[in-house]
Amino acid sequence: MAFISYFAGIIAVCATLLYQYIKIPSSLPKHIPSVPIYVSLLGLWSSMGQDEIYDRWLRRPLETHGAVKIWFAGRWNILVTSPSLITQIFRNESVYAKAGSQKKIPWSVIASLVGDNIINSHGEVWKLYTGIMKPGMQKGNFEVGPILRMSRRFVDLLLQTQEKDREKGVAVNPLIQRFAIAAMGESFLDIDFGCLENPGTRIEVLQTIIKRTIFKPLYFNFPALDKYPWLFRSRRSAFAIMQEFEDLLFNLVRNRPRKLERKEKRETVKPEDELVVHMLERALEDGRLTEKQYRDNLKIVFLTAHENTQQLLNSMFWQLGVDQDIQSKLRAEVLATGTTEPTEALLNSLPYLTSVIIELLRVYPPVSQLINRVSLVPSTLISPHGPNSNLNLPAGTWVGWNAPGVHSSPEVWGPTAREFIPERWGTTPEEIMGKFRKETVKGNFIAFNSHSRKCLGQGYALLEMKICLFELTRKVKWHVDPGYKLKLTSVSTCIRSFCWIYSNEEHL
Ligand code: HEM
Repeated sequence: MAFISYFAGIIAVCATLLYQYIKIPSSLPKHIPSVPIYVSLLGLWSSMGQDEIYDRWLRRPLETHGAVKIWFAGRWNILVTSPSLITQIFRNESVYAKAGSQKKIPWSVIASLVGDNIINSHGEVWKLYTGIMKPGMQKGNFEVGPILRMSRRFVDLLLQTQEKDREKGVAVNPLIQRFAIAAMGESFLDIDFGCLENPGTRIEVLQTIIKRTIFKPLYFNFPALDKYPWLFRSRRSAFAIMQEFEDLLFNLVRNRPRKLERKEKRETVKPEDELVVHMLERALEDGRLTEKQYRDNLKIVFLTAHENTQQLLNSMFWQLGVDQDIQSKLRAEVLATGTTEPTEALLNSLPYLTSVIIELLRVYPPVSQLINRVSLVPSTLISPHGPNSNLNLPAGTWVGWNAPGVHSSPEVWGPTAREFIPERWGTTPEEIMGKFRKETVKGNFIAFNSHSRKCLGQGYALLEMKICLFELTRKVKWHVDPGYKLKLTSVSTCIRSFCWIYSNEEHL
């Protein structure tokens, strides 16, 4: 009897602690809905995709209220999709400060992966990182030649893989990953990782493992579990993988064959012609960065400059692989240029190429949801629905956004919001880029974020996509394997399709 009541007592204490842990803080706004906590955990037992989850549980409350309370990373947060609220957050970085995993859950596996870097830091530290790296990310003279060469090799590899087995479609993601890492290495880190030519390089294999490890729903939503690697073997190995990646990247980059001796290069090459890695190295050498800061920023460049294009290329294979009319129209525009050696100016003059890429970013934003800002003081987000709907937030509230939610809202993009229509952006490059900028400033289009913390790699990413898509449509046709059903994972806009690839000379 005593044993039973002892046991019941323990259960009661655990239940109370759990209740206290997951209870919604009374200080958060009461007039916006809360997404049931089980929705955040669906990935544990359900195979529903991110789009299905959004449609079933989030779309209606978000389209009605513009914001909801949602459980994520071990706490209740405010998630917004109203462009007006999003813009207020993006414009006021001094109130809604960037604070990534290194602040929110510093003990976690994801924090050990990303550390403190140019994307997730705030204030003086962010200014230090930006001062060092921005010129290398926004330089106006990225070389087209090397990316074009890699795109050609990528297309050859697609054709060769198809040739090896003509009974089924090609799994495009592994080849895309190899291409994306190679292009990033060339453009930012001055290194050939060798992964385009050789499948299975360790640095590339680690990326596949990392992507699988980071997004495990249980640890994603209850990161407190990461505090006990001695208890959970999978956490122990996750920490080990992150460390292996960091050390391998550091060693590869530090010991890479130099195209030019750096000393010589510094004297002969203007700073704006240098790559990000040269800027990071100089900052390490003259003590502006510690080795930890250097490593963290090296990792984030590696990750962000390949993962997002990788995702976008995957979405592109899917979308253009199911919509042959769009693919043919794009091919016609590319072939009409009559060249095999496009310059940046030529690529920028192609309206359909530009609008297809921007529409891909709208319908399949690679960074789909981020909750990485915290209010530093008590604040109010002014609601477009009137003062009664304003959101009064106490200091220390975590806020974030959901890009597919904004981009697929009929209130923002009209009744065709969920359709893929490149023409909605306009017909001339000026009109298209003008609309792209206008919608970004208004918070209607947030694929690259906006205002002071907008993506610094946006220009490069658009160029890389244009080169790759130019070369792809110039050389091959593809369609999605009819057996493949679109499936987005529960945490990111990630499409891993199989495609049949044919050279343009072959008949479908
Ligand atoms: C399709 C490709 C890309 C997409 C969709 C994308 C998207 C984004 C988004 C949404 C953010 C804001 C993140 C946040 O709010 O925490 C961001 C920030 C950033 N991105 Fe990108 N990105 C892409 C490619 C790149 C590339 C190639 C680089 C080059 C290194 C890059 C460098 C950065 C940096 C440095 C920031 C932080 C800017 C700051 O906070 O000052 N991105 N990106």
